[in-house]
Amino acid sequence: MKNLNRLLNLYKRGRKLSCITAYDASISKYLDSNNTDIVLVGDSLGQVIKGGKSTHTVSIDEIIYHSKCVKSGLKKATLMIDLPINTYNSKSQAYKNAYKLISKCSADLVKIEVNEKNINIADYLIKKNVPLCGHIGLLPQSIKSKSGFRKYGKSLKEGNQIYDLALSLDQIGVKLILLECVDNIVADKISKACKSPVIGIGSGKGLDGQVAVIYDLLGISFNKITSLTMKKSSSFDKVIQNFLKNNK
Ligand code: KIV
Repeated sequence: MKNLNRLLNLYKRGRKLSCITAYDASISKYLDSNNTDIVLVGDSLGQVIKGGKSTHTVSIDEIIYHSKCVKSGLKKATLMIDLPINTYNSKSQAYKNAYKLISKCSADLVKIEVNEKNINIADYLIKKNVPLCGHIGLLPQSIKSKSGFRKYGKSLKEGNQIYDLALSLDQIGVKLILLECVDNIVADKISKACKSPVIGIGSGKGLDGQVAVIYDLLGISFNKITSLTMKKSSSFDKVIQNFLKNNK
């Protein structure tokens, strides 16, 4: 809670928030000591750690294991943890699993993917005092084919739906809104209209903060489905290539 309050104060003072994923203690310690505001244990671990094609195979026990590793490296960053697919299908299941993330892993924020159909679950968790982040736009847990990996909100109808959903989340009291691959103009409008901080990945630069998957930043993601905004970084590559060249 202390770290979350610190984060919200930073936001009120106009700081742009940074959020980077981590799945182990070394990376989380590095991110924390370099002033990353939010460290996210994302269910992207299904892809970048387990090597799968989606987030759909991640279990609550796997998230708990990695979150405990990450937590051990943190001092001041806010720890945000994903509830994986099929762990929040009903109110009681959602609360039971959110409570696990808070009690076993010291989650400062619990993140769920929200659409019009499950916003009642978000509302229930907030009423039960779960500090919640609502993830909207591209929802990896709902995607069944490659065509789902696209920008959301480009048409007027879809843009309005995402805008209305964000405002509903803001009204029910989420602590944070995360936009994934939302049309930049819609994303800007959402960030201007909401009281809660709005951070994004693949949703333009005009938000209250940016999210990145650590392996995307390092340029070593082996598939590109975690984000539509991958940039190839060279520094990590150079270190490894130099080591290999010098030790042959
Ligand atoms: O699981 C994850 O890493 C995420 C980010 C892509 C936002 O949810």
